Amino acid sequence: MTRILLFGAGGQLGRETIALAGERGIDLIALGHADLDISDPVAVARALEAARPDALVNAAAYTAVDKAESKPDLAARINAFAPGLIAERCARYRTPFIHVSTDYVFDGTKRGAYVEADPVAPLGVYGRTKAAGEAAVRAAHERHVIVRTSWVYGAHGNNFLKTMLRLAGERDQLRVVADQRGCPTATRDLAEAVLAAALAAAQGDARWGTYHFAGRGVTTWHGLASAIVAAAEPHTGRKPEVTPITTADYPTPASRPKNSELASDLFERTFGVRAAPWEQRAREVVDALLAKAPQPEASEPEKAPSPSSAIPAPQSEEAS
Ligand SMILES: NC(=O)c1ccc[n+]([C@@H]2O[C@H](COP(=O)([O-])OP(=O)(O)OC[C@H]3O[C@@H](n4cnc5c(N)ncnc54)[C@H](OP(=O)(O)O)[C@@H]3O)[C@@H](O)[C@H]2O)c1
Repeated sequence: MTRILLFGAGGQLGRETIALAGERGIDLIALGHADLDISDPVAVARALEAARPDALVNAAAYTAVDKAESKPDLAARINAFAPGLIAERCARYRTPFIHVSTDYVFDGTKRGAYVEADPVAPLGVYGRTKAAGEAAVRAAHERHVIVRTSWVYGAHGNNFLKTMLRLAGERDQLRVVADQRGCPTATRDLAEAVLAAALAAAQGDARWGTYHFAGRGVTTWHGLASAIVAAAEPHTGRKPEVTPITTADYPTPASRPKNSELASDLFERTFGVRAAPWEQRAREVVDALLAKAPQPEASEPEKAPSPSSAIPAPQSEEAS
């Protein structure tokens, strides 16, 4: 049976990958931050030696985009040094390495979707350290698949969708950035993609290299927030106004690409996995989260909604 080793088990993608592997009966050894620090050479070597996997998936990263501006060394250790270290260790065992990267390696000036061969030009520390991590992996280990993705959300962890649901429950107006466009990607689809790449690699049939994999279709943070609020209304009876604002209306420590649309067709052709339309997935995640949420008692007095203030562009790659 194919055995996959996963780093970053406690994150959004990590938890979804564990759930999907469980459903598929895939032999997955999942290690979280408490189990190992991916930048610790001894811990990484020990984990590989103990598991002897057929493929390794790295879903661990420093994803706090704004905080990275003030913690460049920490971001570089986790996003640049650690992936190179893991790749170098995997190379010793010829273990295929599946590493996840980001749309934020691009500067967002391209019109239309980014393809894998487009030159990287990151705007901030997070993007720079992720781009350096990609380069370190390519240099250390030929048997790698790098999967760049974007705007990740799901039922687990912190993300833009869950922040919008919380704020939609508290406010009558949400003011959300409308001049940044990208492809919202559900962790469900991304987990499917990384497992498909790992299984193909383990069977020795992967075409090594860098791929883009993101939700189908493109929107803005305002468009995504509007869809989330619309999907929540049948559950909550609330429909706060979602007002478009510009990036300039809400300056953040890290600059974000105005366009980070990713073309995913090379991944689909190579690994046979295609994401669902972002609207469908966003609705499914909202329904799943709110179907579980306790319904407010009818008698509970209406809480005075807090005044509306601008919803910033997401803190990490999604609002935390
Ligand atoms: N989130 C997005 O919108 C987005 C968009 C594009 C690309 N990506 C990429 O997709 C991948 C998965 O992202 P995600 O959203 O699932 O991230 P996430 O939810 O922030 O999870 C990252 C995980 O990495 C762990 N981690 C951090 N430093 C570590 C270390 N030194 N050793 C071991 N584990 C460590 C974190 O643990 P602690 O919390 O305990 O530190 C956390 O569980 C990452 O490569 C990310 O760069 C994400």
